[in-house]
Amino acid sequence: RAEPPFVDFAELEARSRQLLAEPVYDYYAGGAETETTMREATAAWRAWRLRPRVLRGTTTAALGTELLGSPVRTPIGIAPWAYQAMAHPDGELATARAAAATGALMTVSTSANHSLEEVAAVAPASPKWFQLYRLHSERHTDDLARRAGDAGYRALVLTVDVPLLGRRRRDLRHDFVHRAGVRMANRPPEGEEPTLDGLATGTWTFDEIARFGELSGLPVVVKGVLRGDDAIRCVQAGAAAVWVTTHGGRQVDPAISSAQALPEVVEAVGEEVEVYADGGIRSGSDALTALALGASAVFLGRPVVWGLTTGGEAGVTRVLAGLTEELEHTMVLCGLDNVRSVPADTVVAAR
Ligand code: FNR
Repeated sequence: RAEPPFVDFAELEARSRQLLAEPVYDYYAGGAETETTMREATAAWRAWRLRPRVLRGTTTAALGTELLGSPVRTPIGIAPWAYQAMAHPDGELATARAAAATGALMTVSTSANHSLEEVAAVAPASPKWFQLYRLHSERHTDDLARRAGDAGYRALVLTVDVPLLGRRRRDLRHDFVHRAGVRMANRPPEGEEPTLDGLATGTWTFDEIARFGELSGLPVVVKGVLRGDDAIRCVQAGAAAVWVTTHGGRQVDPAISSAQALPEVVEAVGEEVEVYADGGIRSGSDALTALALGASAVFLGRPVVWGLTTGGEAGVTRVLAGLTEELEHTMVLCGLDNVRSVPADTVVAAR
């Protein structure tokens, strides 16, 4: 069957499911506990309605913006996700090439199957951020932060919603977390192979924000914030930006959705720092809703997983380009011509 001229995520996921071993598909697709947060994520964006403006003479929209000073050609970026070589042999390298081809920002996970230096070397001019977990020991974690700075990453993304790994029932059933063959390229030079649950960051406090900023020499983005009061403390502790997310519904369940938390976080710190959001973004209008609620950018997790699984670099490129095109289309229909200035009154709560 020919590809439809739009991104059909349900179909991409269905094809991915056929291509992947069941434990791998379940690891990518699943969420924590009852999967309530994961299931509600997309619906939460669609609890808002667009209020189009007419007769604005708009036929195209400018999609380029700057994220922490790095220019990008689309406000739709790639969220960090682990073990990309299980989706496609080229793994993170293919994703990085697709990011460069579309001008999208890529966030590279600590749990990547290619080392952070190898991924950085793909299209080095294309901006990338590095996502930090704890790795094996404090010493190795600090080393990883320094390596990210040395390798040319533009920001360090501290993922703070993993004091413990969420209880993902599908993974517990397959014992995925301890399965052999899940190899991390950023592992320490000596010592045991790190496992998924060994990445937990339960010892971290707000002090880590400034400390990792100094170690890496990079601006620090705090990923995993769902409350205005926490966002304020992050900014006071030196965060350059805050990323609203439920980790794809893979940690706390049932947690508030990103769409519900975003306005509170923007209200708390949106004047001072950039705020990003992810979780369940599956259409251009979902992205536009997040921008109207005050996000400077949105990020995609599973859509990129399914793009990489079904089509490697080209598959990821299609997902990024397809959603970006949909965003532009929706903006023009709404009489908007620039992603940098989407007015808050573009959306209203549905009822
Ligand atoms: C993730 N996510 C994630 N986040 C992070 O900070 N470090 C990581 O290594 C991972 N790994 C990971 C693996 C897989 C398979 C998924 C699906 C997700 C969370 C990710 O960055 C993002 O927050 C969500 O995926 C966004 O939700 P959607 O777009 O998947 O609905």
